[in-house]
Amino acid sequence: MEKDKFMISPDGVDPNEVPKKTLYTGAQIPAIGLGTFGSDRYSGEEIAEAVRGAISVGYRHIDCASVYGNEHLIGEVLKEVMDAGIKREELWITSKLWNDMHGQGDVLIACAKTLKDLKLDYLDLYLVHWPFRNTHPPGANPDSRDPNARPYNHEEFMETWYQMERLVEAGLVRHIGTSNMTIPKMELLLRDARIKPACNQMELHPHFQQPEFFKYLVERDIVPIGFCPLGSPSRPERDRTPTDTVVMEDPVIVKISNRLNIHPAEVCIKWAVQRGQIPIPFSVKRHQYLANIKAVVGEPLTEEEMKEIESIDKNCRLIKGQVFLWEGAKGWEDLWDMDGKIAGYC
Ligand SMILES: NC(=O)c1ccc[n+]([C@@H]2O[C@H](COP(=O)([O-])OP(=O)(O)OC[C@H]3O[C@@H](n4cnc5c(N)ncnc54)[C@H](OP(=O)(O)O)[C@@H]3O)[C@@H](O)[C@H]2O)c1
Repeated sequence: MEKDKFMISPDGVDPNEVPKKTLYTGAQIPAIGLGTFGSDRYSGEEIAEAVRGAISVGYRHIDCASVYGNEHLIGEVLKEVMDAGIKREELWITSKLWNDMHGQGDVLIACAKTLKDLKLDYLDLYLVHWPFRNTHPPGANPDSRDPNARPYNHEEFMETWYQMERLVEAGLVRHIGTSNMTIPKMELLLRDARIKPACNQMELHPHFQQPEFFKYLVERDIVPIGFCPLGSPSRPERDRTPTDTVVMEDPVIVKISNRLNIHPAEVCIKWAVQRGQIPIPFSVKRHQYLANIKAVVGEPLTEEEMKEIESIDKNCRLIKGQVFLWEGAKGWEDLWDMDGKIAGYC
C-alpha cells in the first residue's frame, strides 16, 4: 500500500494554539505529546504512520525511546515532514536511554544510534528511562526476571548522569531528564548533578496522581511529563494485576465527559494539562489522537471538576516494573522507595 504524502490536515489544531510549558532553561515544550510505545501490540509501521498523522493534525512533541524498537521508522517520517517544510525547531523530540546502555562509554553510543535512527542532529530531551541497569527482553512475560538485576546504586547512576551531561555540552541534546524516579533518588541526583534534570517522566493519571512527588518537582522547576495519561488500557500483560483500576470508567470522569459530550480520554487530557503536567497519550487511531489534541485547546474543566478529579486518586500504580526486580527483593514496591528509603542501597 502506498503511504499518504505528508500534508497539514485542515481539521487539525494550529500548533501555535497548543499551550507550552517553559523549562528552567527558558525553552518551551508543547503541553501534549504523542506516545510511541506500541505495548507489544501495534507495529512500528503503524506507529510511524501515527506520528505522520499526528504532526499533520498539530502535534509537535513526540515521545520516543530506543527500547520501543521503532525509532528508525519514526526517523523516516521526521525526515519526510521536515522535507515538506516543518522546521526542526518547531518539533520537540524526546528519546530515552535504555537500561543496558548506562555503562561508561555506552551513553554516547546509545544517543548516537538514536540520533541516526531518528535522522536528527540533536534531541530536545534525552531521558534516563529507568534509574538502574536492570533490563528485560522485548515482549517479556510478567514472571521474567533479569538474573543480573541489582538494587539502585547511586554511584552507578551518577556515572550514567555525568555522561548525559556530556551530551548537553557536546550539543547532541538540549535537555536531559529522568524517568521512573522517586523523591529519595531525586534528592541524591539534585545533590550531585552539575546539570539538573529539566523534566521527569512519570506515571500520572487521575487514579495515580503522585501528589507529593508532583509538588516536589514543581517546586524545583522540573516539569512532570505524565505517561499512561489515560490509564494505559492497552498495556502489555506483564503490566496488569487484578487490583488495577480503570481510569476512563471512573464515574467522575464519565460524568464530566457526559457534561462536555466528549470521550473520557479527553477529560483525562484536559485534567493533566490544567494541573500542569504534560500528558503523552498514545494512539495509532486518527480519531483518537485528533480528539486528544483538540481536548487541549477546547473548553476547559471547571475548578470544581478539577477538585472532583483530585479526590478520585486511588494511588493505583499500573506500571509497577516487577520485571526489573533483583533476587531477594520483596516485591515491586521495592522499586518505588515507598517508605522514603531506597531499597537495598545504603
Ligand atoms: N517512561 C516510561 O517508562 C513510560 C512507560 C509507559 C509509557 N510511556 C510513554 O507514554 C506513552 C503513553 O502511555 P500508554 O500508551 O501506556 O498509555 P495511554 O496513553 O494512557 O493509553 C493509550 C491507549 O489509550 C487508548 N486511547 C488513546 N486515545 C484515546 C481516545 N481519544 N479515546 C479512547 N481511547 C483512547 C488507546 O487504546 P486502543 O489502542 O485500545 O485504542 C491507546 O492504545 C507511551 O506510548 C510511551 O511513549 C513511558
